[in-house]
Amino acid sequence: MRFGNVSTLALLAAAVAIAAGPTGSWTAQLPGGRSGSSRQIVLALDATGAQLKGYVKTAQYEDLIVEGKINGNEISFVGERQSGNGQRVNYTAVMNGDELKLSIPGRQGTREVEFRRTSTEVPPPLPPKVNLPEPKPVRANGLAKTPPMGWNSWNKFHGQVNDQVVRQIADAMASNGMRDAGYLYVNIDDTWEGQRDAQGNIQSNSKFPNMKALADYVHSKGLKLGIYSSPGPKTCAGFEGSYQHEEQDAKTYAAWGIDYLKYDWCSAGRVYTPSSMQGAYAKMGEALLTSGRHIVFSLCQYGWQDVGEWGAKVGGNLWRTTGDISDRWEAMSRIGFDNQLGREKYAGPGHWNDPDMLEIGNGGMSDTEYRTHMSLWCLLAAPLLAGNDLRDVKPDILQILDNKEVIAIDQDKLGKQGVRVAKDGDVEVWARPLADGGHAVGLFNRGASAAKVTAKWSDIGIQGSHKVRDLWAHSDLGKISNEYSADMPSHGVVMLRIAK
Ligand code: GLA
Repeated sequence: MRFGNVSTLALLAAAVAIAAGPTGSWTAQLPGGRSGSSRQIVLALDATGAQLKGYVKTAQYEDLIVEGKINGNEISFVGERQSGNGQRVNYTAVMNGDELKLSIPGRQGTREVEFRRTSTEVPPPLPPKVNLPEPKPVRANGLAKTPPMGWNSWNKFHGQVNDQVVRQIADAMASNGMRDAGYLYVNIDDTWEGQRDAQGNIQSNSKFPNMKALADYVHSKGLKLGIYSSPGPKTCAGFEGSYQHEEQDAKTYAAWGIDYLKYDWCSAGRVYTPSSMQGAYAKMGEALLTSGRHIVFSLCQYGWQDVGEWGAKVGGNLWRTTGDISDRWEAMSRIGFDNQLGREKYAGPGHWNDPDMLEIGNGGMSDTEYRTHMSLWCLLAAPLLAGNDLRDVKPDILQILDNKEVIAIDQDKLGKQGVRVAKDGDVEVWARPLADGGHAVGLFNRGASAAKVTAKWSDIGIQGSHKVRDLWAHSDLGKISNEYSADMPSHGVVMLRIAK
């Protein structure tokens, strides 16, 4: 039977949709973004009167609805991320029959995503999560006695990294002085992963036809190869993770000749309770130890759950302390100056705080700002992983990355992370003690206009007269008593080495 142009079936479906209210399962496709892989997002709603339960689920995360309201065709709810950090996300939606527009807040602003209803049934609950006990300490692997140095593909290439890019980067590092300055690891970040074979072995995707051959090539250049995975079923870009394949993957990496693993929490909160985080990392820490190869273990879980307290115990050589850096002064300076305070007690030979990879040379900051970025990371005893396109690097950028006197501060054998010793408005002085009894000192002007900055010997814990060298000007300043002052441009740095 037809009423005008509308079939009975369509009318019936509309009636069911209205009767069901928002209850049911809804799906949408999210565009891929930088990683290039699009992802499905499921919205599961169970409405009783004005009350709402359910969840939002992607391959990467689950947000459990902890508060929800329905007001006519408008819905609002709070999702608690099942990730291990208790993050809460405020969602709003407008429903129209079997269509629904959801506003999803995110770091890049709010996105409007169109959903279609796939069922009016009450959706199944989220599956229960695995709960791992607190792990036994993992034996230290003896690696990374100084902070790891190298390159990582993510900041510049995102999903565009491939075998050829990695080879060309290795060529560049071997010939442009970077390898000789200490940059050894060539690290492939997310998006290399393919499917597992019938035995469950992870395979690389078509961008990386032969990982073993690539490792051989990188090794032939006197460099080392790094790779990336997740303790969850999926990586942050939606590729295959190591969940339930930890030992097998560690053995595969070893067989390929991998020297470094970045292990990114990503979707792990979908399968593990928050208190399982240490256990999930320890699993891979153990697996790497027994893989038959020396592999640096880099934890990436954005600094959650006081990772400094346990990162080394699960076998970590370094652990991220924050969310992702970006190529902007605000992001870099917030992470470098503000988010590292108080973490110095966790750093030392073999185990380092990681304020994220370098953005030097990616174009979003001035050379002055990139010098500040480099100086600060070296004072922080941070891993130095260049994140730019080294195949095509301007000489002034190379000079920043290759400044051996500044790198020597980062790689100082004492391994003591620097601290802020003075702050006056936008002006800061940072210092770290060095193995030879001297000190490295950074004078920083974070302000928008030029300023005079003074480093007082008493703030650094020294007295009297000392030989001082300017590590960016590469010049000796002579013997200086009590303090050193410099007029500095906005966002500038002066980096000094004060002799014993
Ligand atoms: C997370 C990490 C980044 C990068 C991406 C890859 O966001 O913090 O450093 O590895 O995942 O998907």
